[in-house]
Amino acid sequence: MPGKILIVDDDIDTLRLVGMMLESDGFDIIAANNGQRGISLARTEAPDLIILDIMMPELDGYAVTRQLRQERTTRGIPILIFTAKTGMDDKTLGLELGADLYLTKPISTHELLAQVNKILSPPDESDQLLPVQKPKGVLAIISTKGGMGVSTAAINLSIALFRKTENSVIISDFRPGQGSLALELGYHQSASFNRLLALPPEDLTPQLIEDTIIEHNSGVRLLLSSPQLRDAKYTSRIDNFEIIARFLPQFSDYTVLDLGPGMTTLNQKVLPRCSEVVIIVEPAPQSVAQSKELIAEFSALGIDHDHIKLVVFNRIHSSLQLSFGEVEEQLNLKIASAFSPNRELVNEASIHHTPFIILKPEGLTAQQINQLAYSIVDQTE
Ligand SMILES: Nc1ncnc2c1ncn2[C@@H]1O[C@H](COP(=O)(O)OP(=O)(O)OP(=O)(O)O)[C@@H](O)[C@H]1O
Ligand SMILES: [Mg+2]
Repeated sequence: MPGKILIVDDDIDTLRLVGMMLESDGFDIIAANNGQRGISLARTEAPDLIILDIMMPELDGYAVTRQLRQERTTRGIPILIFTAKTGMDDKTLGLELGADLYLTKPISTHELLAQVNKILSPPDESDQLLPVQKPKGVLAIISTKGGMGVSTAAINLSIALFRKTENSVIISDFRPGQGSLALELGYHQSASFNRLLALPPEDLTPQLIEDTIIEHNSGVRLLLSSPQLRDAKYTSRIDNFEIIARFLPQFSDYTVLDLGPGMTTLNQKVLPRCSEVVIIVEPAPQSVAQSKELIAEFSALGIDHDHIKLVVFNRIHSSLQLSFGEVEEQLNLKIASAFSPNRELVNEASIHHTPFIILKPEGLTAQQINQLAYSIVDQTE
C-alpha cells in the first residue's frame, strides 16, 4: 500500500525524523520547509497524503489547508495536521478548514505510523460500493434575506448544469422545515432527509446518505428537506449537515446547496466546504450593504473572491434602485447574471411541478440561468 507522502514543516529535525521513519516503512517522501513550497509540491506531485505543521512563518498550516481545499487538483488529498498546538480550538479550526486528522506532538512513531496507515488504507467493503469521483464543484446559493429566489435559482441552475455538461448533479436544500423545493417539485414524502439528520453524527455513513438521494425526471438527483414546519428542529443538527456536505460531492460532479438566507451557524459550518458561492442580491442600497457584509464573511471562511458569483435579481421597482454598475462597484464583483421577474412563468412551473428551465428552455428567464451556469462551468472545468 505505501504511497507518496508530502511533509510540510519548518522544523528540519521533524522533517528528518518523520521522513526517515516513514521511508523505512516503504513510503516515498517529499518535504517542504515552508507553506508556499508545500502548496506547490502538492499541486505538482499529487501526494497520497500531506503531513502538515501549523506554526510556520508566513503561510501557516491553516492557510495551507484552506488553499489546498480550494483548489480542484489538491482538494481530495488527505491532510494530517501534526502540530505542537494542543488547544481544542486549534484542532476544531484545523478540521473545519478541511484537514482529515489532527495529531499533536509529541507522539510515538508507532502511533503516527498507525494513523498514517489508517488514512491510506483502502476503504472497507461498504465504501468500495461507492463510485470514486473527483468533484468539479460544490456550489452554495445564498442571499441576505428570504424570498429572494434562491431555491428557484438552485433547482433551475442544477438542471442547466446537468444539461450543459452532461455531468452528474445533486441538489440539496439545507432547510429542514422549509423545504420549498419538495413542494415545488411535487414530492410529498420527504422525511428521509430528517432520518439522516436525526442520527448520531458518527452513524452517518456515505452509503446511508447515498441511499437517501432520489432521482428527478430531469436527471438531476435530489436530497430534499422536509417542508413540514415542525421539522425546523433539525436545523440544529449542524454536525450532520457538515458530514453530509463533506460526503455529497463523492456522489456527483456538481453539488448544489440551497443554503437560504443569511450567515446562520449552519451556513458558517457548511460554506468552507463549497468551492463556489452564488449570492443573489437586490439592486437596492440595503440589500447591497448587507451583501457586502456577507461577502466579507465568505472571505473570513476562506472563500476566494474569484469564486463568488454575483447575481442581481431586480424584483422591486423602486426609486432607490442602484444601477448594475453601482452594485458591481460597491461589492467589488462583476455581475455573473441578472434575473428578471417572471411571475407567470414561475406560477406555471409551480402548477406543473416542473422547473421553468424545462418548461421554457429558450425563454429569457432560462437564458439568465444558463448564463450563470456558463460562468460556473468556466470556473470549474
Ligand atoms: N424570476 C422570478 N420571477 C417571479 N417570481 C419569482 C422568480 N423566482 C422566484 N420567484 C418567486 O419568489 C418566491 C420566492 O422564491 P424562492 O422560494 O425561490 O426564494 P427563496 O430565496 O428560496 O425563499 P426562502 O427564503 O423562503 O427559502 C416564490 O414564490 C417564487 O415562485
Ligand atoms: Mg428557499
